[in-house]
Amino acid sequence: MQHATRRQSSRWAARGLCCVLAALAALWRPGAACPAACTCAGFRLSCADPERSLVAFPALSEPEMENITDIYIANQSTFSSINEKDLTLYRNLRNLTVTNTRLTYVSRQAFQNNLKLQYLNLKDNNLSSLSWKTFRHLNISYLMLSGNPLQCSCENMWMKQWRGEEAEAELLCVEEGGKRRPLSNLKLPHCVVPKVTLNPQRVTVLEGSNVTLTCNTSGTPTPNLTWNACQLTSSYEIVSSGQSSELRLFHLSSLDNECKISCSSDNTAGGSEASVQLNVLFPPIISKLMDGIPDHHWCIPFSVSGNPQPELRWLFRGEPIKEGAFITTRIHDYSEHEYHGCLQLDSPTHINNGEYTLLARNVYGEDRKSIFAHFMHDPWNDTTATESIYYDDTPVGPPEDRVAVYVVVGIAAVTFAGFVLMLVVLKFGRNSKFGIKGFVLFHNVPVEVVGR
Ligand SMILES: *[C@@H]1O[C@H](CO)[C@@H](O)[C@H](O)[C@H]1NC(C)=O
Ligand SMILES: *[C@@H]1O[C@H](CO)[C@@H](O)[C@H](O)[C@H]1NC(C)=O
Ligand SMILES: *[C@@H]1O[C@H](CO)[C@@H](O)[C@H](O)[C@H]1NC(C)=O
Ligand SMILES: *[C@@H]1O[C@H](CO)[C@@H](O)[C@H](O)[C@H]1NC(C)=O
Ligand SMILES: *[C@@H]1O[C@H](CO)[C@@H](O)[C@H](O)[C@H]1NC(C)=O
Ligand SMILES: *[C@@H]1O[C@H](CO)[C@@H](O)[C@H](O)[C@H]1NC(C)=O
Ligand SMILES: *[C@@H]1O[C@H](CO)[C@@H](O)[C@H](O)[C@H]1NC(C)=O
Ligand SMILES: *[C@@H]1O[C@H](CO)[C@@H](O)[C@H](O)[C@H]1NC(C)=O
Ligand SMILES: *[C@@H]1O[C@H](CO)[C@@H](O)[C@H](O)[C@H]1NC(C)=O
Repeated sequence: MQHATRRQSSRWAARGLCCVLAALAALWRPGAACPAACTCAGFRLSCADPERSLVAFPALSEPEMENITDIYIANQSTFSSINEKDLTLYRNLRNLTVTNTRLTYVSRQAFQNNLKLQYLNLKDNNLSSLSWKTFRHLNISYLMLSGNPLQCSCENMWMKQWRGEEAEAELLCVEEGGKRRPLSNLKLPHCVVPKVTLNPQRVTVLEGSNVTLTCNTSGTPTPNLTWNACQLTSSYEIVSSGQSSELRLFHLSSLDNECKISCSSDNTAGGSEASVQLNVLFPPIISKLMDGIPDHHWCIPFSVSGNPQPELRWLFRGEPIKEGAFITTRIHDYSEHEYHGCLQLDSPTHINNGEYTLLARNVYGEDRKSIFAHFMHDPWNDTTATESIYYDDTPVGPPEDRVAVYVVVGIAAVTFAGFVLMLVVLKFGRNSKFGIKGFVLFHNVPVEVVGR
C-alpha cells in the first residue's frame, strides 16, 4: 500500500518536473535557435533526422518564423500532432510537408493564420480523419493525403473532390471491418454536401423600406445556417425554421448601402454560401463643405453621399458657376460610402472671395450647403487687417508695450491740459482789459497707434 503511494507520489513529482521543464521550454521559445533535429536555412526549415525526432512542432524566434515559407518534416517517429497555435507565427508559410511521421491530429484552427499556404503534403501519416473546415479559409492548390488510415466516414467525403493530385496514388479509406476501398466510389446514405439558395438575388430598394431575405438549404446531416453581414445599422431579426432562415431588415438605412450579406450552410460533409449586396437608394447628403485650402490648386473640399451618384452644381454669390479651366469640380475618391472632392480654383484672388453654394441632386432629392470662402485680402479695402486697440488697463505685454501706453496716456493728458487752458483763456479773455478776442486754439496732437 505505502509502496504504491510512494511510487505514485514520485510519479507525480516526475510529472511536475516535466511540467516545469515544459513551461521553461515554452518560456525559452522566443529566443530559440534552430531546433536540434532540424536545419534552418533562410526561408526553409527542415526536420528530417530520424535519430533526433521532434516531439512538438518546431519553433524559432518570432522574426525567423516570419521569414519561413517552407517547412519540411519527415521520418519523425515521435511527432504526432499539429495544434491550434503551432503555426500561428509562420505567417508567410507557403509549403508544408509532414510525411512519414505519427501525425494523428491536426487542429481545425491549425492554419488559421497561414493564409498563404498553397502546398500541403501530409502523406504517409496516421490521420484517420481531417475536417474540410481546417482549410475552408485557404486557397490550397496541392493537398496530398495518401498513405493515411483515413476512415470511410462522412467527415472525409470532401476529399473525393480533390482532383488536383493526379500523380498521386488513389486515395483509399478504411471501412469499419478494416477493409480498404477507394474513396472515389464511396457512397454514404446520410452524407450530402449542403446547397444554399438566397432570395431575392438582387436588392435595390429605397431607404426606409423593409426587406426580407430568405435562405434555403439542403444537405444531410442537417446543416447549420449562418448569416454574415457587414455591421448593420438597420434593425433586423432572424427567423429560422428547419432548413430555411429569414433575415428581416426594417426601415433600411442608407448607411447599409453596399452591405454584403451572405448565408452559409455547412455540415460535416462540406459547405456552401450565397450572398447578395444591398443597393439602397437615397437622396443626396452633403456631409462636409469647408473653406478653401491652398494645395496645388486652391480647393473647396466637400463630401457628398447619395445613391444614385448625385449630380453636383455650384453657385457663387447666388449665381450659377460656369465650370471651365479656371474653376472645376473634381471627385478624388469614393470611400466610406461618400464621394470626396474639391471645387478646384486656379490662382483665385480676392475677386473670388464670397459665398459658395454646393447643390447636390439625384432623382430622390436635393441637398445644399454654403460656405464663405476667403482666398486673399482685398489690398484696397483691407478691413480685416491687423488692428488693435488698447482697452486693457492692466498691461501685461512686453515692456515696449507699456512704454507705448504711457506715451499715449501722457499725450492725452497734455491735450486735456491744453483744452482746459484754452477754456480758461476764452473765459477770462472776454473780460480782459487787454481786449484779446477769443481765438480758437486747437491742440492737435498726432496719436500713433502702436500695433503688435
Ligand atoms: C529575414 O529575411 C530578410 C531578407 O531575406 C533578412 O534580411 C533578415 O535577416 C531575415 N530575418 C531573420 C530573423 O532571419
Ligand atoms: C526517410 O526515411 C525513408 C525510409 O526510412 C528514407 O527512404 C528517406 O530517404 C528518409 N527521408 C529523409 C529526408 O531522410
Ligand atoms: C513546395 O515544395 C515542394 C517540394 O519541396 C516543391 O516541389 C514545390 O514546388 C514547392 N511549392 C511551392 C509553391 O513552393
Ligand atoms: C495512430 O492513431 C491511432 C488513433 O487514431 C492510435 O490509436 C495509434 O496508436 C496511432 N498509431 C501510431 C503508430 O502512432
Ligand atoms: C488562389 O490561387 C490561385 C492559384 O494559385 C490564384 O490564381 C487565385 O487568384 C487565388 N485566389 C485567391 C482568392 O487568393
Ligand atoms: C416595416 O416593418 C415595420 C415593423 O413590422 C412596420 O411597422 C412598417 O410599417 C413597415 N414599413 C413598411 C414601409 O412596410
Ligand atoms: C424555402 O423554403 C421554404 C420552406 O421550406 C419554402 O416555403 C420556400 O418556397 C423555399 N424557397 C425557395 C426559394 O426555395
Ligand atoms: C452552428 O453555427 C453556430 C454559429 O457559428 C455555432 O455556434 C453552432 O455550434 C453551430 N451548430 C452546429 C450544430 O454546428
Ligand atoms: C470694402 O469691404 C466692405 C466690407 O467687406 C464692403 O462692404 C465694401 O463694398 C468694400 N469696398 C470696396 C471699395 O471694395
